[in-house]
Amino acid sequence: MAAHGRRTGRPTPEGGAFVDKPVEAYTHPDANPYLTAHREFGRPLVPAGDLQAHRGRMAELFGRDAPLVLEIGSGNGEFMVEWARRNPDVNVLGVEIRFKRTVLCARKIRAAGVEHVLIARYHAAFLRDLFGEGELVGILVNHPDPWPKERHERNRLISRWFLEDVAYFLRPGGFLRIKSDFEPNCGRVADLLDKGPEGEPLPALPLKITGRSDDVNAKGAPWADDVMTNYQGKMLRKGVPVHAIEVVRTG
Ligand SMILES: C[S@@+](CC[C@H](N)C(=O)[O-])C[C@H]1O[C@@H](n2cnc3c(N)ncnc32)[C@H](O)[C@@H]1O
Repeated sequence: MAAHGRRTGRPTPEGGAFVDKPVEAYTHPDANPYLTAHREFGRPLVPAGDLQAHRGRMAELFGRDAPLVLEIGSGNGEFMVEWARRNPDVNVLGVEIRFKRTVLCARKIRAAGVEHVLIARYHAAFLRDLFGEGELVGILVNHPDPWPKERHERNRLISRWFLEDVAYFLRPGGFLRIKSDFEPNCGRVADLLDKGPEGEPLPALPLKITGRSDDVNAKGAPWADDVMTNYQGKMLRKGVPVHAIEVVRTG
């Protein structure tokens, strides 16, 4: 068994902060065109630094005080825009690591005219630089990258460190909802609530599993009014089952 915590760490240096690429990266002739588009887009695309500067005051960025829901890995934004349209009473922030997808999200939000949604290019390992304790009412994660090989474990989002973050960010009664065609992304949640990645006992987190599904497309999700995501649609067309799990913050 590995030493406690050896593989539970974040996939980033302890104490480091997420920083956007410097301006020179945008002006380089070979630069990804979405780097420039990302820098110039404006609202609803918020630069990472602005998010960090609003830690604890995120409502100011939205221009209204409302409960805050975070989506991690928003992809092309299809899900986020529709989910937000059906949930007009919460502020919705999406974080997405890829420049192109961040810009696609921003275009979708703007085209849909949903004013209570923002998107940022941001890495999920640095969320403590954005939110304090109990600041979120919900966290949505759809089809996180699977990283199935053991040697890539540090890249996995669904990990003990992530669940510790979830327990810290959610207010009591707040939810984490995960959908994935890769079953371990849901199964691991149950395993990691009071253990490390190699089964070593750890303090139980104040999170309770409130629902599961082994086939969302055929049998439904463990929550009302599920919204189809882009990847979920791809799995539906391929006949691959999509798993889901809902966890609620206790206390
Ligand atoms: C498989 S795609 C799913 C996209 C979308 N959620 C869906 O269901 O259609 C996973 C997404 O997560 C993003 N992602 C991966 N690692 C991330 C991280 N550490 N922080 C933020 N986004 C991340 C990827 O860029 C990609 O867009």
